[in-house]
Amino acid sequence: MKMKNAVNIDDLRRLARRRLPRVVFDYLDGGAEDELTLRANRRAFDDLTLRPRLLGGGRVDLSTEIFGQSYSAPFLIGPTGLSGIYWPEGDLHLAGAAAEAGIGFALSTGSNASMETIARRIDAPRWFQLYPWGGPEFSEALVERAAAAGYSALILTLDSLVGGKRERDLRHGFSHEIRMSAPVVLDGLMHPRWLASVWFGRHRPRFENLIPFLGDAASDRDLAEFTRSQRNPHFSWEDVRRIRGLWPGPLLIKGVMCAEDAIRARAEGADGIVVSNHGGRQLDGAPASLSVLPEIVAALDEGATVLLDGGIRRGSDIVKALALGAQGVLLGRAPLYGLAAGGREGVARALAILADEMQRTMILTGCDAPRHLGRDHLALRTDPPP
Ligand code: FNR
Repeated sequence: MKMKNAVNIDDLRRLARRRLPRVVFDYLDGGAEDELTLRANRRAFDDLTLRPRLLGGGRVDLSTEIFGQSYSAPFLIGPTGLSGIYWPEGDLHLAGAAAEAGIGFALSTGSNASMETIARRIDAPRWFQLYPWGGPEFSEALVERAAAAGYSALILTLDSLVGGKRERDLRHGFSHEIRMSAPVVLDGLMHPRWLASVWFGRHRPRFENLIPFLGDAASDRDLAEFTRSQRNPHFSWEDVRRIRGLWPGPLLIKGVMCAEDAIRARAEGADGIVVSNHGGRQLDGAPASLSVLPEIVAALDEGATVLLDGGIRRGSDIVKALALGAQGVLLGRAPLYGLAAGGREGVARALAILADEMQRTMILTGCDAPRHLGRDHLALRTDPPP
């Protein structure tokens, strides 16, 4: 299938499943344990219905300002690690497609391209995501580098003190690196284009942000081992305050799922939060991120920036999140399915699909701008979903 024939994100997901070996697709697609939260994220959108108003959305303008920067739409590509395992130089294609579409992009600590490489090659606004790993010197070094490389906002992800129990990955023996066991080799041989371009290609995915900690001679295995060894379950709110003091720009806390933590994040100096359960990859049994959004919006002051992620697969999902009070949303898997299906063209396709669907939904809902979306555009569902 050609990229332009993919009519929705699910088509791109199917293409990704075809192109990737199972171990790689499952890392992208899967969630923790019974994947209850993964499914709940989707169901929450399905359970929320829109309340259309006639004739109000003739001139829709999706453009949105976040932290003083104007973007073409209220969604951005969120941080995801290891994106080079889907397509060579995956991070560059995600950042490049975001720049071409005029939307935001956040680079993960666990990216394959280093933050300096992205800054050099993609001239567009970008954010950096920091994991609460290691001791103070680890975060200090990364925060300094992000500021020096021109990243404008910092996302501190706090829902990952330990890794979620991702059972698809455990079954494949996958943990930050692909081990060439017999089943994996066989599966790789069944996906020769992936094998040739990613595994035997010129840009083998490695954790390039972390090379300065180990030196240029570090092997892929050393870097993967380093990421596993840096988890720090003792990371605390005092550390959040310390990082606040180090970072000159806007700071977002990602992984907030209740009003108390949203208030605490604000009290520690965060400019905003990302309501997120990590796409159902961490705490299984956590509620859908959409379902906790109203209590969080209600608890925060007007000045706080509230973003949401988890389960966004349709333009109408973005409309629903904004109607419940988010200023914008982060995309996780949607652009990754595009990347795995067709590189930069696939990411661009995912972004175009979502922008088109959002535009259409706004017109049909009778709303001309994201900032005008509100509760009156939602109807609470009374019948069970099909
Ligand atoms: C993630 N996510 C993530 N979050 C983060 O803060 N740092 C990271 O490195 C990663 N890595 C990562 C890898 C993969 C493969 C996925 C799918 C997700 C979580 C991500 O930012 C976001 O919270 C979720 O993906 C949102 O849910 P959806 O849109 O994927 O349903």
